Amino acid sequence: MKVGVPKEIKAHEYRVGLTPGAAREYVAAGHRVMIETNAGAGIGATDGDYRNAGATILTSAAEVFASSEMIVKVKEPQPAEWSQLREDQILFTYLHLAPDPEQAAGLLKSGCIAIAYETVTDAHGGLPLLAPMSEVAGRLSIEAAGSALKRSTGGRGLLIGGVPGVQPARIVVIGGGVVGTHAARMAAGLGAEVTIIDRSIIRLRELDELFEGRVRTRFSTIESVEEEVFAADVVIGAVLVPGASAPKLVRRSMLSSMRKRAVLVDVAIDQGGCFETSRPTTHADPTYEVDGIIHYCVANMPGAVPLTSSQALNNATLPFGLALANKGFSAVLENPHLRAGLNVHRGRLTYKAVAESLGLPFSPIEQAAA
Ligand SMILES: NC(=O)c1ccc[n+]([C@@H]2O[C@H](COP(=O)([O-])OP(=O)(O)OC[C@H]3O[C@@H](n4cnc5c(N)ncnc54)[C@H](O)[C@@H]3O)[C@@H](O)[C@H]2O)c1
Repeated sequence: MKVGVPKEIKAHEYRVGLTPGAAREYVAAGHRVMIETNAGAGIGATDGDYRNAGATILTSAAEVFASSEMIVKVKEPQPAEWSQLREDQILFTYLHLAPDPEQAAGLLKSGCIAIAYETVTDAHGGLPLLAPMSEVAGRLSIEAAGSALKRSTGGRGLLIGGVPGVQPARIVVIGGGVVGTHAARMAAGLGAEVTIIDRSIIRLRELDELFEGRVRTRFSTIESVEEEVFAADVVIGAVLVPGASAPKLVRRSMLSSMRKRAVLVDVAIDQGGCFETSRPTTHADPTYEVDGIIHYCVANMPGAVPLTSSQALNNATLPFGLALANKGFSAVLENPHLRAGLNVHRGRLTYKAVAESLGLPFSPIEQAAA
C-alpha cells in the first residue's frame, strides 16, 4: 500500500505520524512510504533519516495526499487537509470528532475511511492508542510539579525528594489509572511521600501490590480527598469518568485550607478538569495562582516532549497501521479493535457516541460497508 505522512500543521504540534523507525517497518513489510519534507523536524528526524529507512520524500502535503492510499497523522485533520482527503482513502490519526461538527462535515464530505486512534480498543477493554499519551502526561506531571515548587518560578522552594534529614514533598494523586500510576511511579522514585486516591477498590488493591508499600492508597470519599489535599504539597488530578466531564473533586473553598503555595497539576483538564479553579493553560504560560495555590493545567502535556511522545505513539499504532496497510479496509472488518476505531466510512458516521454527540445519523459498520 502507498502510505503517506504529511507534516503536522496544528499550532504547536511537533509530533509526527511515523517515526523513521516505524517507516522502516512499513517498508520492510513491502509498502511504499511517502513523507512530506521536514515532517520529522519537530523530533529531530531529517529527510535523510527517512530516506535511510526506505521512504520517499515529497515536497508538499498536496503531493502526499494525492499519492497515498492511507494517511497516517497525529492530530485531527485541519480544514486545509479535509479538502485533500478523498473517497476510500484511509485516514489513521487522533480525531476527537464528538465536539467538532466542522471536522465531521469535512470528513463525511471527503468520502474517506477515518479510523480514530482514541477509540481503537484492546482485549482488556482499554484504549491502547490513548494509553501512551497518558503515560507521558503522568510522568511529566511530577516534573511540572517539581518546577512549580521551585522558588525561581514563584514556588515555595521545596525539593520533591527532600535530602537526608529533611522531609520530602507530600504528593497526592487523585485517580489511579494510567496517568495516576505513572505519576506515582515518578514521585515515589524521586523519594516523595505518595498517596493515591481512587474510587475503585479493585484498582487500589492492584496499586497496593504494584508499589509494594512504597505508596499509600485511599478510597475516594469527600473526607479522604479533603484530608489528603489539605496536607499535600502537590496534588495531581488524574481522574477519568469515561464519556463524562471530570468530577470537581477539589472546590475553591478548599484552597484556603491547603498548604500555602502548594501545587495543583490538573492532568484531567482535557476533560474539563477535576479542580473547580482549573482553566486550560499552555506550555508557554503553564501556571497561574488562585488563593495562593499554584495551578498547572496544560491541556496537551505530551506536546512538550514530542520525541518521546512520537516514539511511544508509534509503538502503539504500528501493529494497527501495519494491519491496515497489509489488508486495507478488510483489516477493520476482521479485527474488532480496529473496528472500534472506525468513526467515518464513505460519508457515514459509524461510531454511535460520536453520531449522538453531533446529532447526526449513525450507521452501523455492517450497514455502512454493505
Ligand atoms: N493534559 C494532558 O495532556 C493529558 C494527557 C493524557 C491524558 N489526559 C487525561 O488524564 C485523565 C486520566 O486519564 P487516564 O488515562 O489515567 O484514565 P484512566 O481511566 O486510566 O484512570 C482514571 C482513574 O480515575 C478514577 N476515578 C474516577 N472517578 C474518581 C473519583 N471520583 N475519585 C477518585 N478516582 C476516580 C478511575 O477509577 C480510574 O482509576 C483523562 O481525563 C485523560 O483525558 C490528559
